[in-house]
Amino acid sequence: MKWKKEIERKAKIIGDISTSVPRIYLNFLLKGIAPLPASVLKIALQEGTANLQKKAIGDFLVRFFSSSGPVLTKIGQILATRDDLVSAEVAGRLKALYRDNAPMPLANIRKILSTIEQSDSLLESIERAPIGVGSIGQVHRAKLGNEEVIVKMVRPGVLKSVRRDFVALKGLLSVLRKIYKKRDVEFSIAEKSIESLERSFILECDLTNEAKNMEEFRVRFKKNTSIYIPKLYMQYSTSDLLVMEEIKGVPLDEYVGKSDSSVVAEKYLRELLTQIFDEGFFHGDPHMGNVIVLKDGRLGLIDLGLVGEFESNERKYIAGAIKAFISRDVDGVISSFLNFGHKPKNWDYEGFKRDIISIVKTSKAEITNGITGKSGDESGLEEFVNGLFKIAYKHGLYLPHSTVLLIKTMVTIEGVARTLDSEINLVKVALPVVLRSMTPKWLRFFSAK
Ligand SMILES: Nc1ncnc2c1ncn2[C@@H]1O[C@H](COP(=O)(O)OP(=O)(O)O)[C@@H](O)[C@H]1O
Ligand SMILES: [Mg+2]
Repeated sequence: MKWKKEIERKAKIIGDISTSVPRIYLNFLLKGIAPLPASVLKIALQEGTANLQKKAIGDFLVRFFSSSGPVLTKIGQILATRDDLVSAEVAGRLKALYRDNAPMPLANIRKILSTIEQSDSLLESIERAPIGVGSIGQVHRAKLGNEEVIVKMVRPGVLKSVRRDFVALKGLLSVLRKIYKKRDVEFSIAEKSIESLERSFILECDLTNEAKNMEEFRVRFKKNTSIYIPKLYMQYSTSDLLVMEEIKGVPLDEYVGKSDSSVVAEKYLRELLTQIFDEGFFHGDPHMGNVIVLKDGRLGLIDLGLVGEFESNERKYIAGAIKAFISRDVDGVISSFLNFGHKPKNWDYEGFKRDIISIVKTSKAEITNGITGKSGDESGLEEFVNGLFKIAYKHGLYLPHSTVLLIKTMVTIEGVARTLDSEINLVKVALPVVLRSMTPKWLRFFSAK
């Protein structure tokens, strides 16, 4: 029976590849290659010939990705943030993938809203132009009676096409891996990244996950006076639809360069780290667009489709690693990182240690300067963490998804805090939060008095 299942599984992969790949290949030719000459001419006329080739490649990728479904659009969006992989010019062009998504037709919106009862008020008041269009859905303003609300929808049927594209993508990757045997480490990283992307994608396609997370956040942070979660209209919440209170305020990215940006940076850093270390329940994608500062100074958190969760002993253990990191204890960093993953059978400890020491040594000065606010170098921690990931995969160290999400989130938090205030002292703000999470709760009760 086992072989029968295996054959069925393989047949499904081949089926998915053969439906996804020709479509993608056709897009490659029709949407990507065919308009290339006209596009090159247009860039040359409008922007001159400097970096013409890279700009043309960037625009070609934008056309190709945006016409090839949500999964490839997302991959293009990720590449847009990776100057190191695709060069700054190409990445700059790829940023268009964040802006130029086509909204879904009105008929689809009607269809989604028609599944709920008493949708008339929403249907009548919904603003035609979306305030945001993402790769899987979009967000509109509307009214429920006198209340101003936000309506978030995902495209009907998106989950099915997302699943199919991931099966095809992973199938293709395993074929390529067999051809390019020498690139094993790169393929391991690509496979892991795609798996982690798939996980978050599938969660985000079903808006009941976001609704559930919002409710849980509300309950857990009820006493917290610094953060705010929008009220959810539960009766209108389905897998394709969320209706919530509109948060009135200033998005975090508008604080960059303002005089009070360092106050907001510190609050953001403290609150987001508190979620991780005190509560063990945190926003999994806290970039600037997902935080709105209310008039009274509270941080409004939106887009809670992805959250991370940790048990208390795991938290203590991670806090130990951070403490080693921010107190510049290089050996501590090495030994903590070793414990994060599951070691493979034929484990080459010495080789691993050598690799770690070499990257810790090269980036140590940069990082310590960065975290204590001595230099404005924005990529210290991120570069270091990417280097660690690479070494982990090279040595077959398996990192659980929850750890990967945590590390990514902390890199995001650090990046946002430092964009708001390049001189922020991460140690000063982070250390008390981290140390507090290592102290038993009852002791904290006395020491806080
Ligand atoms: N409750 C809300 N109040 C105010 N603006 C919101 C709210 N929810 C979403 N938005 C606006 O819509 C945009 C997209 O919503 P978001 O939930 O972040 O979706 P996506 O998953 O596409 O990023 C946000 O960046 C924000 O500008
Ligand atoms: Mg968002």
